[in-house]
Amino acid sequence: MEFSYYNPTSIQFGKGQIKSIVNFIDKEQKVLVVYGGGSIKKNGVYDQVKTALEGYTWLEFSGVEPNPTVETLNKAVEVIKTEKIDFVLAVGGGSVIDGCKYLVAAGLYDGDAWDFLDGSASVEKALPLGAILTLPATGSESNMAAVVSRKQTDEKRFFFSPLVFPKFAVLDSSVMSTLDDRQLANGLVDAFVHTCEQYVTYPTTSLVNDGYAQTLLKGLVILANTWEDRNTPVWQENLMHIANQALNGLIGSGVPQDWATHMIGHELTAFYGIDHARSLAVVQPQLFRVMLEDKKEKIALMGETVFGISNDNEAVIKAIESIYEKVGISTNLNDYEIDDKVVENVTKALEAHGMTALGENANITLEKSAQILKMAMK
Ligand code: NZQ
Ligand code: ZN
Repeated sequence: MEFSYYNPTSIQFGKGQIKSIVNFIDKEQKVLVVYGGGSIKKNGVYDQVKTALEGYTWLEFSGVEPNPTVETLNKAVEVIKTEKIDFVLAVGGGSVIDGCKYLVAAGLYDGDAWDFLDGSASVEKALPLGAILTLPATGSESNMAAVVSRKQTDEKRFFFSPLVFPKFAVLDSSVMSTLDDRQLANGLVDAFVHTCEQYVTYPTTSLVNDGYAQTLLKGLVILANTWEDRNTPVWQENLMHIANQALNGLIGSGVPQDWATHMIGHELTAFYGIDHARSLAVVQPQLFRVMLEDKKEKIALMGETVFGISNDNEAVIKAIESIYEKVGISTNLNDYEIDDKVVENVTKALEAHGMTALGENANITLEKSAQILKMAMK
């Protein structure tokens, strides 16, 4: 086993932690507070940020949409450059935080910052970033990934840079009180799939990675099975904790990973606007069926340790599907607004983005991706 693990984000977990942001932002820094469509004005988060930033010079930029686009974000880049912003504070879910990762890099870049997304440039400098998380799902609050879309070309791409790790992340689960069922379910399923992408590959000898991934999966199964408690503080803080741990880099260190479900899912979102987690719920079970030969040992292990199912991999895949369905997420692609070009559109986009040999064994070809999508149309 060989790996480097680095995660500099300070986690401020618990009720009332928003005020702690002053410990991480210098008074001399000019701050840009960035948020989405306004949910933070309904749950008191905006007011808490305003109170915390008393005495600071700060501006705000709102309107970052789910699956953030460069078309919107580039307007904030202008603000950062003309107003000479020193610090960006993201207040929202994965979309706002990812959007802000783009902003902190783009704000110090002279060219078109889509270069980071299409891989033609890597981030060499970035402004400091802080995050106040309002939707547990992506883990973006303490990782170095950002997923950004370009409406003009129906593309959804990603970049990584250690320079865009937030300096701090506030995880106060009391801000989840205004989340609707759709977003809570999305968060649960996204975290489940993140854990699987770093666990359901081929067997390894790492007791730590397997054990911790199983703990996270078991926790998510408990949360799905106690869905009726979803408005309680304990349920919500557990989801916030698990979703954070699922994608902060830890469980993936030193083990094979398979992000194929995400790569196929991103193309579905780019074309059809399907919520991120829903795109995953549609793709992942079929991907497990198509790639069963590669993944059978880990699916069996997951069956035994997470679901209490022995010697029946199809039953394990069905158990995963029923978790998604239990929280109200359909695993049938036909239940979403697609058209008869879906397989063609997604596979062409995968090809254009170099996603022709996905998976831990680099053997998820375009043909296999097409097969997965066809099977997902139940
Ligand atoms: O915009 P506002 O008004 O804030 O409303 C949002 C948005 O409409 C709402 N919301 C957020 N917190 C709320 C709330 N509504 C009520 N109360 C609250 N407390 O929820 C809606 C969805 O928000 P969004 O940020 O889009 O959701 P999520 O956190 O699931 O983020 C999804 C994005 O993250 C990317 C996805 O591809 C997608 O673009 N991902 C990022 C990753 C990363 N950086 O590591 C990994 C993931 O796999 C994923 O790809
Ligand atoms: Zn995800």
